[in-house]
Amino acid sequence: MLQINPNLSDLVSDATAGLRQRLQATATVTAAAPGRVNLIGEHIDYCDGFVMPFAIDRYIVIAGCANGSTQARICDHSFPEMAEFDVTEPQQIGTPKWSNYLRGVIRGFQDRGHHIPGFDAFIVSSIPGGAGLSSSAALECAMATFLEGLLDTVLDTREKALLCQKAEHDFALVPCGIMDQFASAFGKPNRLILIDCQSGEPELVPFENPDLTVLIANTMVHHELSDGGYAARRKHTEDGLAILGKSSWRDVSEADVSAAWTQLGDPVNRRSRHVVGEIARTIAAASALARNDFEALGPLMAASHDSLRDDFEVSCTELDIMVEIARKMGRAGGVIGARMTGGGFGGSTVTLCESRKAADIAATLATEYAKTTGITPQIFASRPAQGAHLVASPGI
Ligand code: GLA
Repeated sequence: MLQINPNLSDLVSDATAGLRQRLQATATVTAAAPGRVNLIGEHIDYCDGFVMPFAIDRYIVIAGCANGSTQARICDHSFPEMAEFDVTEPQQIGTPKWSNYLRGVIRGFQDRGHHIPGFDAFIVSSIPGGAGLSSSAALECAMATFLEGLLDTVLDTREKALLCQKAEHDFALVPCGIMDQFASAFGKPNRLILIDCQSGEPELVPFENPDLTVLIANTMVHHELSDGGYAARRKHTEDGLAILGKSSWRDVSEADVSAAWTQLGDPVNRRSRHVVGEIARTIAAASALARNDFEALGPLMAASHDSLRDDFEVSCTELDIMVEIARKMGRAGGVIGARMTGGGFGGSTVTLCESRKAADIAATLATEYAKTTGITPQIFASRPAQGAHLVASPGI
């Protein structure tokens, strides 16, 4: 029942073969960038909170080369149409829709004074789309890394992540926080990325215990952050902070929220309670992990899910069902903790469990979920993987 993660080298071969077949070109630059899963700290990266994601062993790969013209010609294995546009012009939002992530990143380079040469590129992915695993951040980070290779330049990692976040804001029109692009850019094997979103500092935290496995269960309920739910939640948190009269959520306590409950009004009061609670839970989870205190970690993950479901209202029936199946197995069944991960409104859950029981747990998740919903989920495990990087193009 556990899906195998495709090898990065196979993805690289697929991308270079696609480039040859669709665009009759040979790759000179190949870039890979991973998706992410978040262990805890949800919907608080845009509230100066803490988040604890890691880069997963699922990648977007872009293979390409300069083509001697002024045009970018880009094909993606999941879409029939080619994106073709003039890269000597400052980039604007255009069509096809998927090309906007790429246009946004090119614009970020242009704004920094880079002249982009015409290029051909082919994109492949092993990150399920709309699954809350940051395929869009991975696409942006892969494009930025590809451009670094094409231009023979290297951006500071933090600047690269911020450039990609701006592409998402301005070209995909999703007012996201910094978690996804940071995870895709800073990922390291065996490391979680604990991000202090107030200072913008990522800290790499060891996560190398072979007895622990992280299972990712895609409910197959498609999530779309550009449909307004995400922006609405972000707005609620901004309204809450303004009503509380504070300049950062880090200066707000649970008592402050309770005292202003009526004034905040529904749903802003519940959104505020989530933010303050989730910041505290994430700090507590980081410290529980550091002392291998799994008895403390499980309840924190459970409380995070409940808060996202009831107070922040970004879960959905299918996510709740998947989390409930994991909870029922409990510690006796090898489950340490489970919750929804990512933006929500569909997407995936994350289940932290004992490695020796991971295959059984995945099988139970798949069977029980299919029985209840009629949907076959996609379940795989991932250890923390390497962030965005250039890969040697085969044959070079
Ligand atoms: C999406 C956004 C992130 C973050 C999560 C929720 O993935 O891109 O910035 O806000 O949702 O934690």
